[in-house]
Amino acid sequence: MNEILKNIYDRRAVRKYKNVSVSKDLIEILLDAGRMAPSAMNRQPWKFYVLTDVKKIKAFSKEIAENAIKEIKHVSPKEASEVNLSSFHLSTMINFLKNEDHVFYGAPVVIFITSPKTDEWGAIDTGMCAQNIMLAAKALGLDSCPVGFARFITQAKDYYKLNIPDEEQVQLAIIVGYGDEQPEVHERMENNAVYL
Ligand SMILES: Cc1cc2nc3c(=O)[nH]c(=O)nc-3n(C[C@H](O)[C@H](O)[C@H](O)COP(=O)(O)O)c2cc1C
Repeated sequence: MNEILKNIYDRRAVRKYKNVSVSKDLIEILLDAGRMAPSAMNRQPWKFYVLTDVKKIKAFSKEIAENAIKEIKHVSPKEASEVNLSSFHLSTMINFLKNEDHVFYGAPVVIFITSPKTDEWGAIDTGMCAQNIMLAAKALGLDSCPVGFARFITQAKDYYKLNIPDEEQVQLAIIVGYGDEQPEVHERMENNAVYL
């Protein structure tokens, strides 16, 4: 199979990492791949905040999980149904977050990706950027996982230490490291294309 296609098929969300750091040179290659993503009007709205201090990553992980649980518990059944979340899903998510380090999974690198709050295409552009980073990671023998829960970082007491300006929104984080698991492929739905 073509190398790029193989990379796309082989990438998994990896949630267990070896206790091995990732060199700054490799991180730079990942960010450069992210910067090559397309963006609306070529605005390149992304900014990267890279955390490699394992102690700080662990502390944020714990605090994000606590804040996420509080927030999820406040979601009313009506709100949950609007985003297709059943009470089963909600309780599963809460249980999931209660476990040890289930936000950043012991990864040695967390890349927070932000875009200006005013940029209407920010979420899509940063999503494309994130995918480039994850595929580049795979190509370099690294693993990754996108972490939407990272959005709760704004409520962490040490959030200010990341120096993210108020005008920016944390869209998501990508965790990166040397994976210590080989997750099964999640089956993909296929009945979602309409030829016209
Ligand atoms: C926008 C987005 C947010 C995600 N947030 C999380 C998260 O907070 N925690 C997590 O463990 N996985 C998260 N994931 C990973 C998905 O669960 C995963 O990609 C999906 O189950 C498919 O598995 P695969 O990536 O191995 O194919 C997220 C994925 C995306 C695209």
